[in-house]
Amino acid sequence: MDELWEQIEQATEALCRKWNREARIGLILGTGLGHFVDQIEQAVSFPFESLPHFCKSTAMGHAGRLVCGKVKNINLIAMQGRFHFYEGYSLRQITFPVRVMKAMGVNLLIVTSASGGMNPLHRPGQLIVIDDHINLMGDNPLAGFNDDRLGPRYPDMSQPYDANLIETALKLARDRNITAQRGVYVGVKGPNYETRAEYRFFRAIGGDVVGMSTVPETLVAAHAGMRVLGLSTVTNVCLPDALEPTTGEDVIEVANRASSNMAAVIEGIIEEEARQAQSELFP
Ligand code: HPA
Repeated sequence: MDELWEQIEQATEALCRKWNREARIGLILGTGLGHFVDQIEQAVSFPFESLPHFCKSTAMGHAGRLVCGKVKNINLIAMQGRFHFYEGYSLRQITFPVRVMKAMGVNLLIVTSASGGMNPLHRPGQLIVIDDHINLMGDNPLAGFNDDRLGPRYPDMSQPYDANLIETALKLARDRNITAQRGVYVGVKGPNYETRAEYRFFRAIGGDVVGMSTVPETLVAAHAGMRVLGLSTVTNVCLPDALEPTTGEDVIEVANRASSNMAAVIEGIIEEEARQAQSELFP
């Protein structure tokens, strides 16, 4: 038996000392989307380093705090910034906040990111609703001792991204004249962007976009039985035969410019959940 359960309890207790609520939605705000926390009402913030067993966020463009509060009258917990495998942490460490969200009651996780687009139909700034993923991180957050209280030893991954949420997100985008496509996300460790041969390979094996996050958090959320919605902004188009150099600054700039589209879809999803919560209370 390892100490993960106790660590989750300790972090949950620390949160509950200042925010003793049951949350319904968890949000991981990736590159460009940190400002979404401004919409959270009655917000209570926790710098990551103030919470037991949380890592420090070192990635460019990522603030590092957990913000708890309400959007559309729904309790949610948002990570403003996240941890990445390339920062040197283990996948268990970087997914720890997802376990804490689950312990706080979260059953819907919205994971956002920036990614490189390999599908020739992609344009910079385009929104991708993640349909499936390929784990090429060379590791798995579920490896090692499995505490059956957290989820099964051999979790099913036939549909890690919730089919209804995918449809709803695509419809919300369409209704708002936002171009969005479904896509398969290839998760890599990073921190470098890919070579031409790597982009060609990832496209050939069925990938539409590639990024350095999302997969570990989704694996842990699916293990815990949470519904997951994955949204990614294509920040750089990666056509191997016409590849332009990319920098971290370019990625952040495009992600920032496209953030209002992603935020609009997230708001729509939260509204939908609020409607559902209401109908559970007053069937
Ligand atoms: N590769 C990996 N991660 C990324 C990329 C990319 O091209 N763009 C944004 N995140």
